Amino acid sequence: MLYSEKVMDHFRNPRNVGKIEDADGVGEVGNAKCGDIMKIYIKVEDGIISDVKFNTFGCGSAIASSSMATEMIKGKPIEDALALSNKAVVEALDGLPPVKLHCSVLAEEAVRAAVKDYYDRNGIEYDKELFKEGETPHCEG
Ligand code: FES
Repeated sequence: MLYSEKVMDHFRNPRNVGKIEDADGVGEVGNAKCGDIMKIYIKVEDGIISDVKFNTFGCGSAIASSSMATEMIKGKPIEDALALSNKAVVEALDGLPPVKLHCSVLAEEAVRAAVKDYYDRNGIEYDKELFKEGETPHCEG
């Protein structure tokens, strides 16, 4: 089987889909090659991510990855969201096919972009190195 049970579950039944109107941070990233777009909204209270929602025009793996990523950062300190790696998301999903790994990168980048937006809006100092532009993930799948 190409996809794990968990991937299929999160794909068929994604958690935290939607939009937060009064979000404290919004992150949008896109993949130029396949045109997939991912948008993540976060609500922050006392440094904790109290709510998170996502929207994606992406493939099934992008949906499953962002669903899992939102579950992993909800209720957690904002620093934890920043530390979330696509590798951790893939592990939590019990793996993704190699050609689909880049889809999970989209989720990681959208989370990071939302945190950066939150920092910027609130004038919170941060290490710019943390948000260096990485390689744009490729879409072969
Ligand atoms: Fe482009 Fe999955 S995000 S194919």
